[in-house]
Amino acid sequence: MNQNAEITVNSIDIARRVAQEGMVLLENNGALPLREGNRVAILGVGQIDFIKTGAGSGSVNSAYSVNLITGLRNNGKIKIDEELAAIYDAYYASQKRTADPSFMPGEMAPPPRIPEMPLTDIIVNRAAEKTDTAIITFNRSSGEGSDRTLTKGDYYLTESEEAMFSTVRAHFAKVIVVLNICGVMDMNWVDTYKVDAVLLAWLPGMEGGNAMADILTGDVNPSGKLTDTFAKDYWDYPSSYNFGSFVDGYETIVANGSEIEYWGMIPTHKSHPKGTVYKRPVNNRNYVKYEEGIYVGYRYFETFDVVVKYPFGYGLSYTTFVLATDPVVVKDNKITVTVKIKNTGRTAGKEVVQVYYSAPDGKLEKPAKSLAAYAKTKLIQPGKYCTLTINYDITQMASYDENTAAYILEAGKYDIYVGNSIKNTQKAGTYRVQTTLTTQQLTNRLRLAEGIKLKTLSKFDSAGTFPTTPSLKGESTTMQPGPMPAGDKDSEIIAIKKANIQLIDVYNGKARISDFLAQMTDLEMTALLIGTGMGSKKSMFGDHSSTVPGAAGQTATLDHLGIPSIIMADGPAGIRIEKHSTAFPIGTLVACTWNEDLVTEMGFAVGREATSAGVDFWLAPGMNIHRNPLCGRIFEYYSEDPLISGTMAAAITRGVQSCGIGVTCKHFAANNQETNRNGIDTVVNERTLREIYLKGFEIAVQSAAPWAIMTSYNAINGTYTAARKDMNVDVLRQEWGFTGLLMTDWEGDGVYSVEALKAGHNLLMPGFTRQIQYVYGKMQDGTISRSEIEQGVTGLLKAIMQTKSFARYYGITDNNNGSYKIPVKWFTVANQSK
Ligand code: BGC
Repeated sequence: MNQNAEITVNSIDIARRVAQEGMVLLENNGALPLREGNRVAILGVGQIDFIKTGAGSGSVNSAYSVNLITGLRNNGKIKIDEELAAIYDAYYASQKRTADPSFMPGEMAPPPRIPEMPLTDIIVNRAAEKTDTAIITFNRSSGEGSDRTLTKGDYYLTESEEAMFSTVRAHFAKVIVVLNICGVMDMNWVDTYKVDAVLLAWLPGMEGGNAMADILTGDVNPSGKLTDTFAKDYWDYPSSYNFGSFVDGYETIVANGSEIEYWGMIPTHKSHPKGTVYKRPVNNRNYVKYEEGIYVGYRYFETFDVVVKYPFGYGLSYTTFVLATDPVVVKDNKITVTVKIKNTGRTAGKEVVQVYYSAPDGKLEKPAKSLAAYAKTKLIQPGKYCTLTINYDITQMASYDENTAAYILEAGKYDIYVGNSIKNTQKAGTYRVQTTLTTQQLTNRLRLAEGIKLKTLSKFDSAGTFPTTPSLKGESTTMQPGPMPAGDKDSEIIAIKKANIQLIDVYNGKARISDFLAQMTDLEMTALLIGTGMGSKKSMFGDHSSTVPGAAGQTATLDHLGIPSIIMADGPAGIRIEKHSTAFPIGTLVACTWNEDLVTEMGFAVGREATSAGVDFWLAPGMNIHRNPLCGRIFEYYSEDPLISGTMAAAITRGVQSCGIGVTCKHFAANNQETNRNGIDTVVNERTLREIYLKGFEIAVQSAAPWAIMTSYNAINGTYTAARKDMNVDVLRQEWGFTGLLMTDWEGDGVYSVEALKAGHNLLMPGFTRQIQYVYGKMQDGTISRSEIEQGVTGLLKAIMQTKSFARYYGITDNNNGSYKIPVKWFTVANQSK
């Protein structure tokens, strides 16, 4: 029996091509590419102990992964110092490491790292006798449920890594570093050890070692560009001062033995024995304040003139390009730039053209530059050129004014820049606005909670507004919402006789959905809206699908109504199930390709595997913003920039959904840290939310129509996102036009199941049997009405009818295949001409 989801050569090839295009060459003084026949000494236990993806729900169970040394052996162009390799093999074996450090079933955090092998003079001298070229590799991983740390071994090098660098530097003329890391880290060692070349390989999926070798040997010319800024110092990120979980102080309380006690923001429903003394935050608030406001990533560094190590959009190539941009054309409410890109070097390569704008300050202050659009060229041969025409809507340059609750395009000059990194641009024109225009009149939905003040960073008073660290740091424990309130006993749906109208009749247009719903009892409706997860047999992952082992969850089957169950499995680096599937590169690497067509291809490969595995909804893409490099799930997400997060999510969505599989954009919204992810209140102003933290979701919804969205665990301005009707209905559905399935994160509704349903959810995941009884009870006592429940069910049934599980259940062969219409792109790139 085939134990794999359909892993085709095609998806392996795509995983490798994505890895090749998303790796970023950060430094190179000519040491790369390696010349054919050269001998290299490979140092660092990471050459074997390779990490393909991060940990937790973002991991993937692949059949294999290719590490650096195997990749170089497979490539065969260079000679490896095998004597040294054997020493590392023996060391690795002595460490009794699990076979795949990226994949620990059921584990959220990555396993502890193997300490770097101490290098003796004898070992290094012997290696240096044979070659002048050393490749050092090391790695970093992170996962769900906890954040990364500002420590040696995570953000910084360990002492043994430093020792390795200094010994290797002293013995070899050329030192090349390959970074197998989950996110931004300190890079000052590049200067300390005068490293000759650095290839940032991220966590590149199971084909990573092959892709690394492709680039190191010059078989592939690197074309990845950073979608995050590498600061010189961690404390240069303004969010660093206010990252974590904070409280206004603690108070001691004595439990009275009642059912609900409060710990953090979430009532845990744990019964505390009478007289138990414990601490709780005053006001029950654990918060994080986004005092940096809109100044996230390059928006901060550019505006406040802070020198960085590697800027946004940056990445080297083995060739050189010259960009010549025609003057900007304004037509049909669009800004159009036409750029001629010439390859002036000796190697074929691809270039990323980036278009930025700078908006004038007015009523609202603006970042010095914002990304407006981008495009990647095809492979350009030496001496040849290609022309790209890129356009975007003028309204994209508007900012959100909380005073008038509108996007406004303020009067003044909008300079348009074109280049190949934010630091290497040229002005291509200016767009002038005579009088301030309202481009979209909205309603404020997500204001600060009453009585809460938030000072935000302003470029006009940097000293007076720079973020500060609240005096008391909260405990960094993760506070999970407790189990649902207990009912008397688990509810059961007793099989009832076959209903007159079956779901297939609604699908075929033979019956109205309202008539179908009229036959359903309150209990059946409730049972459908709540996943069957917690009642199902647990797989090796501790996850919650009985149909597809290792999948994250599923819905109930109601046979008498003809409603099949639908299955959800994680991502974003592939389909996470018990069977083997392809481990693609992490989200951050995917974004660094800047290649939407390739990302759509990857989505298509994911969709194919989901199809063969029997999965209907992929719990990806991850779209939270890289607010701070220490976020534990940073690898799952794309970028510090909302535009690229949105366009990448849209690109992958097009691919996945063209297979008739739904994506689930997550986590909506502002889930930008793991510390206290279930108890944190994110205090952030509405302008920042709309321009930075919601924007990517808006782009994905409007340009790719994702089938599903998952809300987040955290609260925003005092209310859990799962319970925010203003965000989930007023903004997501009404303003943006989302028509798909809204689900909670796993137990993300906590004790707010009823509020979550009222706030527009169609599905509470993974679902507890007792939760059914709880919600059912609330229906009976009138807390939630039948019509509110029907609304949720209607959306869910529509989603079910789109799925392969529905098609299989009824033997339909053609639902969603071929009929899927590819939605528009957010900005357009005209066909490339040569
Ligand atoms: C994560 C989600 C994931 C879900 C199902 C949650 O813990 O936050 O991203 O999709 O589990 O595995």
